[in-house]
Amino acid sequence: MKNRAITPTRNERIMREDDFIVSKTDLKGRITYGNEIFIEFSGYTEHELLGSQHNIIRHPDMPRAAFKLAWDTIQAGHGFFAYVKNMSKDGGFYWVFTHITPDFGPRGEIVGYYSVRRCPRRDALAKIEPVYRQMLDAERAAGTRDAIGAGTKVLTDLLQQSRMSYEQLVFAL
Ligand SMILES: Cc1cc2nc3c(=O)[nH]c(=O)nc-3n(C[C@H](O)[C@H](O)[C@H](O)COP(=O)(O)O)c2cc1C
Repeated sequence: MKNRAITPTRNERIMREDDFIVSKTDLKGRITYGNEIFIEFSGYTEHELLGSQHNIIRHPDMPRAAFKLAWDTIQAGHGFFAYVKNMSKDGGFYWVFTHITPDFGPRGEIVGYYSVRRCPRRDALAKIEPVYRQMLDAERAAGTRDAIGAGTKVLTDLLQQSRMSYEQLVFAL
């Protein structure tokens, strides 16, 4: 369960150029592995992380539609790139550039998921933040039931205007 009692703060942790934050999950998004840097940035102990839902580090500034798109893509067997704002146990935040991929078993079936995150470019963050903010505002205005649809619409409209796929947008930032 995500800890809703945590109050987000303005304290930012910045990834170093040579950092790789790695985690693995089962099919339901429960954490099965995290490397040392994942543990360091999350602020949780390995014991607290293993078996928890990956949304334990979800930041409230992230739109729900972004995760819907992520899950739809990886469950379909594809990789997914995104800039993500995460929240540490102490309420601080850190931005990552993530690549999530499915892990395949011997018969080609998906057995889990794997994520590798690198230090994001600051100029890309300056561009994606307002997009996430617009998606989040639309989600809040629409209410819980219609949130994902409203957030997705903001993103789809933007992609249509710029004639790009989501992945093209991410790499154009
Ligand atoms: C391999 C993998 C890595 C993930 N990494 C993150 C992450 O770093 N931050 C995050 O908020 N969600 C991450 N997620 C998505 C979460 O499982 C979840 O969908 C998201 O936090 C939204 O949570 P919610 O649906 O409870 O709002 C990851 C999922 C997978 C499969």
